Parts: sequence; structure tokens; C-alpha cells
Amino acid sequence: MKALILSGGAGTRLRPITHTSAKQLIPIANKPILFYGIEFIRDAGITDIGIIVGETKEEIKDAVSDGSKWGIKVTYIEQDAPLGLAHAVKISQDFIREEPFVMFLGDNIIKGGIKTFVERFKSDQPNALILLTEVENPQQFGVAELNNGKILRLIEKPKDPKSNLALVGVYLFDKNIFEAVNKISPSRRNELEITDAIQYLLEQDYTVNPYIITGWWKDTGRLEDMLDANRLILDTREQQINGFVDNDSKIIGKVVIEEGTIIKNSTIRGPSIIGRDTQVINSYIGPYTSIYFGTKIINSEIEHSIVLENCIISDISFRIEDSLIGKNVTVVKSLAKPKAYRFMLGDYSNVGIL
Ligand code: G1P
Repeated sequence: MKALILSGGAGTRLRPITHTSAKQLIPIANKPILFYGIEFIRDAGITDIGIIVGETKEEIKDAVSDGSKWGIKVTYIEQDAPLGLAHAVKISQDFIREEPFVMFLGDNIIKGGIKTFVERFKSDQPNALILLTEVENPQQFGVAELNNGKILRLIEKPKDPKSNLALVGVYLFDKNIFEAVNKISPSRRNELEITDAIQYLLEQDYTVNPYIITGWWKDTGRLEDMLDANRLILDTREQQINGFVDNDSKIIGKVVIEEGTIIKNSTIRGPSIIGRDTQVINSYIGPYTSIYFGTKIINSEIEHSIVLENCIISDISFRIEDSLIGKNVTVVKSLAKPKAYRFMLGDYSNVGIL
């Protein structure tokens, strides 16, 4: 069995971070999202993985390389334009050949990985196995209508959903999916939709089995989903202190502090993770915060946020919450006169001022 990870996509809902970085490489609990997918697939016993890359291909290739650090073999497949998930399958035929495969959306995280689904697919041998889960906003997903445990119909982002069962970004297929992706036409958003390809399989009487998952699953396409995923993963970690914590500091609960990090006169309340070579001085780091590495936090408070590498956050009078802060960002109190806010913000930045 092979695997396909989709890691193209522009990440428009995460601008401006995605103007300069691939969304799949944003760290969740200090690990790039894409690495979770790679590990789920490897842990399901699959080592031959194709990664679909788009505009951000260089960054993805730099991060994953040939996959040997996970004991897997990676083949990169270039998608020239984001023409849809089914288009990604179409251009992967030379890589997949006739083998069954799992397709995993590179910005998805799923509790417990995918081993159970891969095993179910191997034992039941349907033409496709799709994962479904109940969501509050089915309009934003592919939606399945079921009757007595059988799939009646699949519709991509319906205006008037007939159920709240969304398609999760993990799909298992045999070779017949190639017939389907070659038969369907582009959707209203001009993409070849995988949902339409699976609907084609249903119409041609191929077996498409549903698997309703009950554990959490996150498509991290938006900031709030990314913060949710960060929260869910941090909750599973145990306390581990490898850096230096002085006697004036308090570490409470599930806090991970990595090597080379210094905590002085500060309170860190878990679940949270503070990556390597970071300094936290006279500050408070609250629950559900991930600080990637190389950052300085001085005389400030931050909670329920993700901070990427090499930032400076200093002398901020109010607590920072619900934030995603990119690489090399400086947020400091300005003493310059006249007293004013001074910004240099990327396109599509989002600032909330008190
Ligand atoms: C895609 C699929 C959709 C599925 C979702 C899961 O949506 O088209 O059917 O429910 O992934 O994350 P997109 O992320 O392209 O909007």
C-alpha cells in the first residue's frame, strides 16, 4: 500500500503567515503539521509516500527531504496549480500505479492516527473507505447522506446540508479512483473535487464504505482550528523540563521546556511548550501556548497562542491571547515620541488593539 499527502494549497485563510511560509509547516505543539501526517502514515506501516507540492515546494522539500529521518521513502509530485484534490490524484497515477493507497490532507490532524482505518480497509477490501465525523458547520465541508449505515450521496460544500456528517481529510482508495477522477468535471470553484469522484464511484456501483470517527479531527485551515489543534495536542503531553528555571519562577502543570531555554522570574502554566533557545523574563506564559524556538518574551503575558521562531515580545501592557505570531516578529512597547502605534504589517494581517 502507498500513501499520498497533499501539501500544495495556498493557505489563503492563514494570510499573512502563508505569504511567506507553507501552512503545512506551521508548528502545532512545536511540530510542523505535516510531520504529524507523515508519522500517522508511517505508524500505519506505509513507507512509500508521495507528497503533492505546489508553490511552496522548496520549503516542503527542505523540511522533509527524502524522508529517511522517519524511515520512509518520499517521492515529490508537482501540481502546477491548485486544481483540486481529485486533480492531485490524477497526476499521481504514475506514482501509485495499481496499488491501493491512503490519501491524507497535509493540514489535517486526527486523534490516534490512521492505523485503524488502514487495517479496516485492508480487511473489508471496499473500493473506497471514507472517514466521516459530525461537525457544526457542514456547509464548509464535503457532506455525506447516509441511510442504514450506507452512503446515499456525497455533496461538496452544500448550501443546504442534509446531514452534519463531514468528510474528514483521510481517504482510502483502490485503483478504480483513477477512472473516477478522469470522468468528473470541474466544480463551481473550478476544482476537480474528490467528493465528486467518490460520488461517481457510488453511481457506478463501486463499494464505498463509511467509517464514522468519534475522536477529534482538525482541518487546520483557519487560525481558530489551528489553536484548537494546538490545545488538543498540548493536553496529551507530560511535564518535561530541560532548560533552566530560576528559583523566582513557577512552573505549573504540563509544561515542556526545551534545551537552552532560560526562564527567569516568570510563571508558566501548562499545558504549554517553550522550545529551545528561548528566554522568558518577568513574564507569564499561560495554558495552550506554544513557543517554537529562539524567542525572547520580556515583561509580557501570553496565553492560548502559537509563536513561531525568533520573535521578540517585550513590555506589552495587556495579555496577548488567541494569536498566531509568525517568524522573526517584533512586538514591543514603543517609547518613541510622539506616543503612537507604529506598525509594519504584512497584507491580510489582523491586529486587535485595546
Ligand atoms: C476539502 C474537501 C472536503 C473535506 C475537507 C476536509 O475541503 O474538499 O470535502 O471535507 O477538505 O478537510 P477544502 O479544504 O478543499 O475546502
